[in-house]
Amino acid sequence: MSDTKLQRVLSSLSEVYRQLNPLPSGPGPDADCVKLNTNENPFALPAAVMQSAVAALERQYLYPEDDNVSLREAAAASYNLSPDQVIAGNGSSELLSLLYRAFLDPGDSVAMLSPGFAYNHKLALLQDARLLEIRSGESCSLPIHKLLFGPAKEAKFILLANPNNPTGTFVPIADIESLVAQSDRLIVLDEAYVDFAPDSALRLIDRYSNLLILRTFSKSYAAAGIRVGFGFGHPEVIGRLRNLQNMFNMNVIAHAVGVSILAHRTAYEENRRHIEFERERVRFALSQLGFSVTPSHANFLLARVPSGRDGAWWQTYLKQKKILVAVLPDEGLEDCIRVSIGTKSQMDAFLEAVDEILGAESSTRSAV
Ligand SMILES: Cc1ncc(COP(=O)(O)O)c(C=O)c1O
Repeated sequence: MSDTKLQRVLSSLSEVYRQLNPLPSGPGPDADCVKLNTNENPFALPAAVMQSAVAALERQYLYPEDDNVSLREAAAASYNLSPDQVIAGNGSSELLSLLYRAFLDPGDSVAMLSPGFAYNHKLALLQDARLLEIRSGESCSLPIHKLLFGPAKEAKFILLANPNNPTGTFVPIADIESLVAQSDRLIVLDEAYVDFAPDSALRLIDRYSNLLILRTFSKSYAAAGIRVGFGFGHPEVIGRLRNLQNMFNMNVIAHAVGVSILAHRTAYEENRRHIEFERERVRFALSQLGFSVTPSHANFLLARVPSGRDGAWWQTYLKQKKILVAVLPDEGLEDCIRVSIGTKSQMDAFLEAVDEILGAESSTRSAV
């Protein structure tokens, strides 16, 4: 029986959203798996940060502070900026989505360095915008000429991540400065993984009004579930983005944890050293097992699997052994997996599973 009321409701969706399918029911939680597919950081919060989260629960009956004033002030003090150069978000992905809404009309284009952060495909689709994927140069270098004079010239803004996801590669800040200086477009520099890198572009913020930097506490600060992200840029741009945000976009716990992490950033040094040590250990072990691994400045590795199978095959077999890794939608990365770096025991479990799969493969081959 056709449901005419439902048809009427669905036909009232905006033209852009009418073309989107409803989300199917999810596959359910994988609570018993080792989760190495979304680049989280599996360590506990420092005790002082945890205490601030618990204390914030006593203010649960109040709305959170509007416009995230105290958190923005704390971030400004920590990063040597003024509060009007700072926007705070419910994760940096909220800020990415604000940029799409603020800058793109239907049919407009945005340029992203490719391979890049896959979520941007969805954000462009929601805005009915075109995502122009600009291939990175040799060894993942910045293709400055293509970004300035190629099809990206039409883009409303240009997105780069440094270190990049999914490659983990890092481009020198001098190259980024050269692009920002020569371009009249907004350059959105996503520094989600910057704490694992040798340098940051933050010092350029006061010099260039067309640079906007995104940061998150989901990766190096182990707070992905709390949702804290920042954008740093020119007050005129930042003020307009703040004006677009939902009211009370962050909750009281995110405010308290954000302020407390800023006050205890040095407490994360050991965590960062652990991740870098494990990353290099796993990189070496995977290379010994026949994978080709890109050197990384992030908390994950991009690994090309041994020939004969593709990334999706490895993802399925690792999942059977309760290890979750990511595969990438980017052209040319079909035979790759991306593996987040977790605790030593998580990485031991991953390497053991890889070893077992390779062992089973070679016995199947020799039996044929
Ligand atoms: C490059 C990049 N930017 C942004 C994000 C989103 O981070 P958040 O948790 O702050 O929304 C991610 C998460 O994986 C990422 O890899």
